[in-house]
Amino acid sequence: MKNELYQNEVAFEAEPKVIDETRQGEALTLERPQTVPSNGKKFYIESYGCQMNFADSEVVASILTNAGFDTTTEFLDADLILVNTCAIRDNAEQRVRFRLQHLSAVKKRKRGAVIAVLGCMAERLKEKFLEEEKIVDIVAGPDAYRFLPSLIEEAETGQKAVNVLLSREETYAEINPVRLNTNGITAFVSIMRGCDNMCAFCVVPFTRGRERSRDYDSIVAEAKELYEKGYREVTLLGQNVDSYRFSHDPKLVGKKLVEAKYEEHVVNFAELMEMVALIAPDLRVRFSTSHPKDMTDDVLHMMAKYPNICKYIHLPAQSGNSRILELMNRTYDREWYMQRIEAIRRIVPEAAISTDIIAGFCTETEEEHKDTLSMMQEVKYEMAYMFAYNERPGTVAAKKYADDIPEEVKKRRLQEIVDLHRIHSLERNKEDIGKIYEVLVEGTSARNEEDVFGRNTQNKVIVFDKGNHKPGDYVKVKVIRCTSGTLIGTTVY
Ligand code: SAH
Ligand code: SF4
Ligand code: F3S
Repeated sequence: MKNELYQNEVAFEAEPKVIDETRQGEALTLERPQTVPSNGKKFYIESYGCQMNFADSEVVASILTNAGFDTTTEFLDADLILVNTCAIRDNAEQRVRFRLQHLSAVKKRKRGAVIAVLGCMAERLKEKFLEEEKIVDIVAGPDAYRFLPSLIEEAETGQKAVNVLLSREETYAEINPVRLNTNGITAFVSIMRGCDNMCAFCVVPFTRGRERSRDYDSIVAEAKELYEKGYREVTLLGQNVDSYRFSHDPKLVGKKLVEAKYEEHVVNFAELMEMVALIAPDLRVRFSTSHPKDMTDDVLHMMAKYPNICKYIHLPAQSGNSRILELMNRTYDREWYMQRIEAIRRIVPEAAISTDIIAGFCTETEEEHKDTLSMMQEVKYEMAYMFAYNERPGTVAAKKYADDIPEEVKKRRLQEIVDLHRIHSLERNKEDIGKIYEVLVEGTSARNEEDVFGRNTQNKVIVFDKGNHKPGDYVKVKVIRCTSGTLIGTTVY
């Protein structure tokens, strides 16, 4: 489903797939800029991992079309195959390796085809990738995409090319992403890169580097252009959107920017959200991901103030036990997290809340696992992404703690978490029966051509009768029934 944050890599699918919109093998309908002459070569790009990776592929597509490449949806036709990879858990990496083997068939059929591995797995493995996967010609990390044209030239001469340098500044701010596989209605806009949080289990700080925010002028310009092209929803993306901070003042860099005050013309996340919300009242604004330690009441008040800021918050808890949260270096405890939930309920009462949970982190006892279940019981999440802990090389946890929970225990705990969540999401969906929501139509339902689907402000998918509705319309829909994954409704005239 489109509202999955981590595509192609959902370790445990909690929701039944009603609408099959999984994006794989990025195809695109796109135009090389007319001012750029064709170089006669075609590229094919495929993406894995989180929305940020998908957004990065759009930046890559822009860089390559500006260098004269055309695109193809058939990898057998491609002169250049790019795989944008994820390293968050081992199964994400295994999927990429499996795919690379399949793609090696292309190499055999099409001599001279270049294969490039991009993204987090490229950054994690660096040159080692070339030794492990012989068919790979280029390894490029998330901050090296501007150098792709020269890396490709190098590879075309038969050399292997690697650039995995991480940057403190790169935000690809002025690069206008080429929208891949788009429905023309919803789009993702990166507002920052990297992460400074160092959660003990997580590879992202190592694969994406230091946190940096993108110039708000370029964010607003991109969102405005999307609106003018007919898009009606933008999702602002970052690993930790609440720590967004940007200033044009050259004196405010690094630590000084973090400590700067409002009067020093620093734009924070709440203000950025307002700037985007003001583009047009019928442009929906979403955002992901919020971090419990940084999500301020300011952000919540801003959500409450603008009807077009969607009432949905993804607030990953990871665990419901304070000792485990401390080991995870999440820098909040259960009480703090629950106090944030209480603030959401108070300030934005209609908001839906989703989470990420890890089962079986190092040393987690049965009692501590039960704390996660009891926290879920208190919150009753609308949506959850649930994973068994998977030790990642180089992380703080890998260095400091033994991965001591047996796999079958992790699996059983995960299953208990998934089962409980399923009860909650069904319960939450049942509460919606009889309610009327404004739905932004995204497309025709894959199950039934007579139906369309869209989402309400809470990010819930609603399927309803097609009538004369077309993508981009806002339609009032009454919910008549539900499954644990989807609401089914009827148009209210
Ligand atoms: N920036 C976001 C999450 C990014 S990674 C945040 O701070 O919440 C997405 C999710 O993958 C995480 O929230 C976590 O639940 C899960 N995850 C990350 N590393 C993991 C690991 N080593 N094993 C299992 N799950 C992991
Ligand atoms: Fe990983 Fe934590 Fe950063 Fe999220 S906040 S990306 S979990 S280190
Ligand atoms: Fe994966 Fe990198 Fe995203 S590790 S989840 S693609 S930031």
